[in-house]
Amino acid sequence: MDADLTGKKILLCVSGSISAYKAADLASHLGKTGAVLHVVMTHAATGFIAPATFRALTRNPVLTDVFDEPISDRIAHIDLAQSADLVIVAPASADLLAKMAHGIADDIVTTCLLAVPQKTPLLVAPAMNTVMWEHPATTANLVTLKARGVEVIEPGSGLLACQDVGIGKLADVGEIVEAITKCLCVPQDFEGIGILITAGATREPLDPVRFLSNRSSGKMGFALAESAARRGAKVLVIAGFTTAVPPPGVTLVRAETAEKMKSLCLSWRRKFDVFIGAAAVSDYAPAEISEQKIKKRGDTENEITLRLVKTPDVLAAIAAQKQEGQFVVGFAAETENLLSNAQDKLRSKGLDMIVANDVTAEGAGFDTDTNIVTFLFPQDEPQSEPQFKSQPLPKMSKKEVADEILNAIRSRIHHDL
Ligand code: CTP
Repeated sequence: MDADLTGKKILLCVSGSISAYKAADLASHLGKTGAVLHVVMTHAATGFIAPATFRALTRNPVLTDVFDEPISDRIAHIDLAQSADLVIVAPASADLLAKMAHGIADDIVTTCLLAVPQKTPLLVAPAMNTVMWEHPATTANLVTLKARGVEVIEPGSGLLACQDVGIGKLADVGEIVEAITKCLCVPQDFEGIGILITAGATREPLDPVRFLSNRSSGKMGFALAESAARRGAKVLVIAGFTTAVPPPGVTLVRAETAEKMKSLCLSWRRKFDVFIGAAAVSDYAPAEISEQKIKKRGDTENEITLRLVKTPDVLAAIAAQKQEGQFVVGFAAETENLLSNAQDKLRSKGLDMIVANDVTAEGAGFDTDTNIVTFLFPQDEPQSEPQFKSQPLPKMSKKEVADEILNAIRSRIHHDL
């Protein structure tokens, strides 16, 4: 049965691919969900399927040119992009992906896409020949788009229109409708809940040009922030250095060092219901910060000794000052003895939950898009054996891990909606 998307405004962008005819099926399915559908087409798409088909299916004008202005006092591409609850590009040709990645706006579809606000979910369902799909240019464009938060509905494999067999078929219409439904029907189960998240890597300066840091990208912390915000939470992220793009709809404050991160987190400690320490915080910082760049010594001195001092543990400091009803979650990044090390951190830092991950496992850890984690919780009865409950999860995208973490938190916090 089709989902109920009554009143949701969806903008369907159709580009030039033989599978453009399947976009008509998609429009028909979306129409049955009660969604209000508008369609824009590239010139190439009109070579595969006529605008009249979409006009009949949607009962709305179909735009194929940037100068098509059905309502005289409104600029069509701005209006369509900004009023949509969700934008889907299906099929997305290699050319269209390239234009999106580079911000080109030279027709009605690309001008609409450039005018889509950051907070609006944007999905692309690519379809093309296998060689085009596997071309490094297409791969790079998809990396760029994913980093910006665009959701890619991966193409399937099989016999393609060009008679090649391989990957590149437009995903099944049912799969596309499901992805759209998932985006539009997000439960607001964190409404009214404040979440403070630390993310990224701290940097501890040595001199004006050097610092001690680590390989964290901030992807996990940002994925948590994005999911929590979409589920209705009020989210504050205190982030060190990150390479990931900050998510829309959250407040972001930068903290370079562990000390700064701690003081910011403590200053906000009364304002949150849930704290998630996803940052990779330096455990040590240089004992002295040189005011001038440290110079290379003469030929006879081949060694230099750095004296390091312990930094504050942000997570432990927050957990130590936890108030009634607050829920504190940490991460354990381990390279060995995953569960016993994570259990020690859960206990010693006084946490309500810890997310353990072996950062050496393939598909887990720093700067990947996936993670393999196990959740640990203290037993309700302190004397119980084992002293913690564990919940291992399979390899998932960081977005999926974020949702699982939030599900686990939601089932444990007492906050009535
Ligand atoms: N953490 C923190 N402040 C620190 C160190 C860690 O807030 N100075 C937090 C991290 O954000 C994470 C958890 O503590 O949620 C565990 O971090 P991890 O690096 O795995 O462990 P450490 O406590 O630093 O211990 P070790 O380096 O010995 O594994």
